Amino acid sequence: MQLCATFTVLGLLVMGSRAQGLMPTISLPPCDSLEVEAAALVAQDFLNAQHTHGYKYVLNQIDKVRIVSTPLQGDTYHLELDLLETTCHVLDPTPVSLCPVRQKINTAIEADCDFVVTNATQGLSVVAFKCKTETESEDECVGCPQLISFNDTNGLQLIETSLDHFNKNNTLNRKFALLEIGRMGSQIVSGGPKYFAEYAIIGTNCTSQDDDICTPQDHTVATHGLCLAEGSNVDCKIFAPTQAVDPASNATVRVQQLLHAHTFGPQHNPAIHDLKHHKLTALHDPSASGLLSAESIESSEEVVVPKEAPIVKREVVAPEVPAADLTVSDKAPLLSDPILLVPICPGKKKHF
Ligand SMILES: *[C@@H]1O[C@H](CO)[C@@H](O)[C@H](O)[C@H]1NC(C)=O
Ligand SMILES: *[C@@H]1O[C@H](CO)[C@@H](O)[C@H](O)[C@H]1NC(C)=O
Ligand SMILES: *[C@@H]1O[C@H](CO)[C@@H](O)[C@H](O)[C@H]1NC(C)=O
Ligand SMILES: *[C@@H]1O[C@H](CO)[C@@H](O)[C@H](O)[C@H]1NC(C)=O
Ligand SMILES: *[C@@H]1O[C@H](CO)[C@@H](O)[C@H](O)[C@H]1NC(C)=O
Repeated sequence: MQLCATFTVLGLLVMGSRAQGLMPTISLPPCDSLEVEAAALVAQDFLNAQHTHGYKYVLNQIDKVRIVSTPLQGDTYHLELDLLETTCHVLDPTPVSLCPVRQKINTAIEADCDFVVTNATQGLSVVAFKCKTETESEDECVGCPQLISFNDTNGLQLIETSLDHFNKNNTLNRKFALLEIGRMGSQIVSGGPKYFAEYAIIGTNCTSQDDDICTPQDHTVATHGLCLAEGSNVDCKIFAPTQAVDPASNATVRVQQLLHAHTFGPQHNPAIHDLKHHKLTALHDPSASGLLSAESIESSEEVVVPKEAPIVKREVVAPEVPAADLTVSDKAPLLSDPILLVPICPGKKKHF
């Protein structure tokens, strides 16, 4: 097996020297190297900026990386990332690095995403991505908080009464409307089920005393917030007003193009009522690059040539690992006994 793998590598080297300068070359740097981390953070920020509902996601682990270098075209990073949902709503201006990660006990949501990021002259930019979102812990333990569907009657009742309470009693002297349900849940306690809800709100044109028709303000100028309601308590965090897009400074905060409420408002969509959490975009490929439309990144393998001085970075492992996953070392003798090397991928988990 070892011998066989070595021959494959030698074969690639021969091919590599012939193809140098013509064919794309592929390198497999350590997942936690600085350049890979930089590309992963660009991917994370892009994901959060283009999201218009739900919560911000933070990078947890870099699972895989492959850099395809094409002469004259720069590098393309193919990344497989694990991200975790934070407790910051996407409209919350708090930088994602300061947002608390939602803990497992509170039914954490995890996303597995594939990204294609290019490093061209103008810097790193995301070409395409696709994500799969799921709950991290689906333990059906008695007494644990469980997420309930966005159309759950008891949950909706809690939102209605708690928002009503907040509207009559907030120091801003303003009525807010429900913008979007973030999550709803219940927990069996001694007195029966206890409900909790998180929801985003938007300011209306009514003061707390107005008993008129209250219309939400235009979202580009509106005050937004996120409320946590549990039992008879409601706590709403009002966000600092969204930075106006200042053309002189190219403000980093993008004005939200679309705000959608799963159960109310203009983007009302009954088809997703039974969701229990917000899902990330399944596939984003505006330039129709097609780089991610296949089932997985691996299935679209090109000719693989080790980049520059070949280095054995990884153990020869399972037979299903394609030759592409091998790299060779100029230091380690090719035919020596296998040396146990520190795995370079996946990278470290940053959270859990
Ligand atoms: C992107 O390319 C520039 C110039 O080629 C290089 O200095 C930089 O390290 C690259 N960035 C990453 C993350 O690879
Ligand atoms: C406003 O809040 C106070 C104290 O939190 C409470 O006693 C009162 O009932 C609230 N008023 C309304 C109208 O909800
Ligand atoms: C809010 O706007 C709506 C629609 O423009 C209007 O009908 C309503 O009277 C306004 N409410 C107040 C309190 O100004
Ligand atoms: C803003 O962006 C434009 C191009 O999008 C660029 O030409 C300009 O230099 C940027 N301004 C600042 C202050 O970064
Ligand atoms: C929630 O939505 C699902 C799917 O649309 C539906 O089957 C279910 O009856 C709804 N539940 C309530 C309480 O409306």
